[in-house]
Amino acid sequence: MVKIGIFGAGYVGLSTAVCLAEKYDITLIDIDPEKVGSINNNRSPIFEKDLDDLLNSALKNKKFEARLFSDKFSPFDLIFITVGTPSESDGYIDLQYVRNVSKALLYRKEEFFLSNQQTLIVLRSTVIPGTTNQFFKLFETKRLARIAFSPEFLAQGTAIHDTLFPRRIILGTNDKETSMTLKEFYFDFYNKKKIPLFTMTIESAEFTKYIANAFLAMKISFVNEMADLVEKVANAEIDDIIQGVGSDPRISPHFLRAGIGFGGSCFPKDVQALIRFGENISAETPSILSSVLKVNENRPFRLIKLLREELGDLNGKKIAILGLAFKPGTNDIREAPSLRIIQALWRAGTLIKVHDPLIPRMNLQSYSRFSVEVHHNILDCVRGADACLLLTEWSEYAETNLEDLTKEMNKKIIIDGRRIFLKTNIPTNVRYITIGNPHNRFTPINHT
Ligand SMILES: NC(=O)c1ccc[n+]([C@@H]2O[C@H](COP(=O)([O-])OP(=O)(O)OC[C@H]3O[C@@H](n4cnc5c(N)ncnc54)[C@H](O)[C@@H]3O)[C@@H](O)[C@H]2O)c1
Repeated sequence: MVKIGIFGAGYVGLSTAVCLAEKYDITLIDIDPEKVGSINNNRSPIFEKDLDDLLNSALKNKKFEARLFSDKFSPFDLIFITVGTPSESDGYIDLQYVRNVSKALLYRKEEFFLSNQQTLIVLRSTVIPGTTNQFFKLFETKRLARIAFSPEFLAQGTAIHDTLFPRRIILGTNDKETSMTLKEFYFDFYNKKKIPLFTMTIESAEFTKYIANAFLAMKISFVNEMADLVEKVANAEIDDIIQGVGSDPRISPHFLRAGIGFGGSCFPKDVQALIRFGENISAETPSILSSVLKVNENRPFRLIKLLREELGDLNGKKIAILGLAFKPGTNDIREAPSLRIIQALWRAGTLIKVHDPLIPRMNLQSYSRFSVEVHHNILDCVRGADACLLLTEWSEYAETNLEDLTKEMNKKIIIDGRRIFLKTNIPTNVRYITIGNPHNRFTPINHT
């Protein structure tokens, strides 16, 4: 049976591991003892739909285990590297985790590699062009292992589905033979599923991931900037406009949703890293990318502005926040717009109450300094509030009756950063405001 080692038990590594464990022998390796312990005890440190069930069956089948980086290993056929590649404080990509894995593979080669260059190392972390060869080419030169870069495209919230049914596979290698080996592995795992597969050089594959993420981020900032214009024109509706615009297949409606901007562990840091990379190789700042980030950074403050227009001075006001995660379906709050909004509210002297369906599985350390009052029940969170800000489009919120939601609020003001209540009946005594709508209107236009 193919024996696979995966370095990095985060969102990508763990999702990949439990899916591959259906068919292969998997060792998931991490430096964090708490993570390793929790995975082996059948408690996933992250939330993803279907992940708990897959982890449970992987552990039961005994073809899967999590191990510490410092443990002793025996050689693998395939090594996936899915460690983090965060931003440094100046926006450059931080490659320390990739470097550490590369060093360990070199110094502990007997533990990891089969003889005769039979082991294949596949870097799956998002890295700037040139990185894979910079850190791993020596394994080919020294004839220790073969190398490839195959970027990960899963999205949090749908990580398991995306791993089992990827939209495409990108495969970057330095030679055709390695490309064939990895192709055969993918064909074996995906078992006749017709998934588009593109082979290219490692550098092109590294670029493909960045450019794809930058393009999606650009769509979000673009629609948000357009929403700000639409908001100024009476009777104009951004959703209707997007429907018209997105119906052109050259544009597509995906990622064209006005809101409070993108967050998470990928788009902000990847756009930032591509900007720094661009500056390095061309001595110029990529201007579209810079605008994408600038528009996005200002997004959360649009909501604060709308709130001030309603409440005036925010000092001493009680504000309920519904949704902390950067998107529904995940417990990830890295770079979530909620953090910047809460920080701004705290600076303005408000009392902040928060709710998220996944709060029990969130690490709220970065929020605790803003003295937030944490609630596990939606109605408890909004009770007595002067306004409610909706920040994540969880279905739990969309399904809430607005009359019930606002019943015990001090002021019945809802500012909907994700436009999820637009299609519902807004009670006449509720002041409902969304991004992208002329907000002097109390209720949306009903065309039906
Ligand atoms: N999260 C996503 O949605 C997503 C999607 C596509 C690509 N990516 C990319 O995939 C990579 C991983 O992302 P993530 O969100 O899973 O990161 P993460 O921060 O959730 O997980 C990274 C893990 O690597 C571990 N690690 C660090 N050094 C290690 C070492 N020497 N050996 C073993 N483990 C080590 C960390 O402890 C951590 O558990 C990043 O490059 C990211 O940009 C992420």
